[in-house]
Amino acid sequence: MPLRVTVTAIAVWLVALAVPGAAVARAASSDAREPFYATHFERTPSAAAMTAVGRALFFDRSLSASGRLACATCHDPGAAFAAANALAVQRGGRSTRVAGVRAVMSLRYSQNLPPFTEHYVEDEGNDSVDQGPAGGRTWDGRAQSAHDQARLPLLSPLEMGNPDAAAVVARVARSRYAGLFRATFGEHVFADPVLAFNGVLIALETFQQSPADFYPYSSKYDAWLRHQASLSLEEARGLKTFNDPAKGNCARCHPSGVRQGAFPQFTDFGYAALGVPRNAAIPANADHRYVDLGLCGPLRTDLKDQKEYCGLFRTPSLRNVALRRVFFHNGAVHRLQDAVRFYAERDTRPQNWYPRAADGTIRKFDDLPPEYQGNLDREAPFDRHPGDPPALSNGDIEDLVAFLRTLTDGYRPRALIKPTPPSTGSNSRSASAR
Ligand code: HEC
Ligand code: HEC
Repeated sequence: MPLRVTVTAIAVWLVALAVPGAAVARAASSDAREPFYATHFERTPSAAAMTAVGRALFFDRSLSASGRLACATCHDPGAAFAAANALAVQRGGRSTRVAGVRAVMSLRYSQNLPPFTEHYVEDEGNDSVDQGPAGGRTWDGRAQSAHDQARLPLLSPLEMGNPDAAAVVARVARSRYAGLFRATFGEHVFADPVLAFNGVLIALETFQQSPADFYPYSSKYDAWLRHQASLSLEEARGLKTFNDPAKGNCARCHPSGVRQGAFPQFTDFGYAALGVPRNAAIPANADHRYVDLGLCGPLRTDLKDQKEYCGLFRTPSLRNVALRRVFFHNGAVHRLQDAVRFYAERDTRPQNWYPRAADGTIRKFDDLPPEYQGNLDREAPFDRHPGDPPALSNGDIEDLVAFLRTLTDGYRPRALIKPTPPSTGSNSRSASAR
């Protein structure tokens, strides 16, 4: 299984720390070049203590240069740790006026997200096909892990706006949980900003792996997989359409079935170019020379010469997608119905999605320069032409939305349903993925 990658990394690291004599205060050796999980603290931190510290850090607005932006401001627990508002991009920075360039991602269900690779091979099952780029954090996978990721917002001038790690550490040292931080990592931890910054990052990473907060599997769909709920007719039709290769074909990239006992994440962690319309609400887009090409840049820089990657973004999980108020990497779409409708109409009714040029022609794929349009996904439901019947009818779209709503965590059955004993085959309800 490509699963539990980060969880395992942390577990290995905790074991390493537990080796007698390993957890020595080594201020001098806490070099930034040392592998992250080789960091040694004066005290061996427990996962529980790091989760508590990480939670305090996550909700602390004083960690930002403006004093007004916490991780939780953009990643609201009430919105599955994505943005609660309907803005395509959030504002941050020292002034809290600097606009970001992408929609906020949910932080739920990324516990199994593998580190970025250009050649993803699923080690489960019998197919060892190279599935191309997969994994990594953010829409373009440029952060390898949750701790690498946390560096980005803390130090980004567009977000929390700290000039350097030492500035973050100074803020933690002044916080009301500074004592908890010392109790967790060691009395002298603040004396070494590099060491203390690693403590901040590992605590945030550990917090983001707390199951109750980040992967509760408490949706109606999960209850249904456990034989503890039944889907309505509409929801059941939606699931069928979602999986049907001749209709939604959604499970091709957003797998929906139980595999080897593991409940589905609704993402294969892969990348695809869908060609979503350009979003004029993003201030950076006022400059027509600015184009967000995902994997090939400009935010990500290491793959900028790989033209076959231009326009590709990571497939997000669809769990809790009904809580979102903006959809796709640039937040160009505001209703779930419309996000689904895009799949039906991109090729059959492009006039509904893209602007017209002065001469009246439709500027299809207006956010992807023509030289990269060969990278676009063209398989079902994207295998049609203008005027063709769409792969999804209006009724199919409604059904799909009803189904997607079953993926919202926190489902409470209205009436108590007679529990069925767990079936012997854990795959008995696995809807065909791929
Ligand atoms: C100003 C809003 C904002 C703040 C504050 C913020 N984030 Fe984010 N976060 C984003 C956006 C936007 C993205 C997508 C970035 C991209 O694709 O480049 C993101 C992506 C992420 C991801 C990647 C998720 C994935 O599935 O790949 C993680 C993890 C994350 N943020 C954690 C944090 C943590 C931890 C903090 C606090 C230290 C934080 N964020 C603060 C806006 C924010
Ligand atoms: C070729 C792979 C692929 C297929 C097939 C696919 N998706 Fe997606 N999906 C993606 C990618 C990639 C994104 C992000 C694209 C972007 O932001 O540019 C995405 C984004 C979404 C979003 C927005 C989620 C968010 O967090 O903003 C929704 C909703 C969605 N897909 C639903 C569906 C449905 C419903 C189907 C079937 C009709 C489907 N997808 C089929 C790859 C796919």
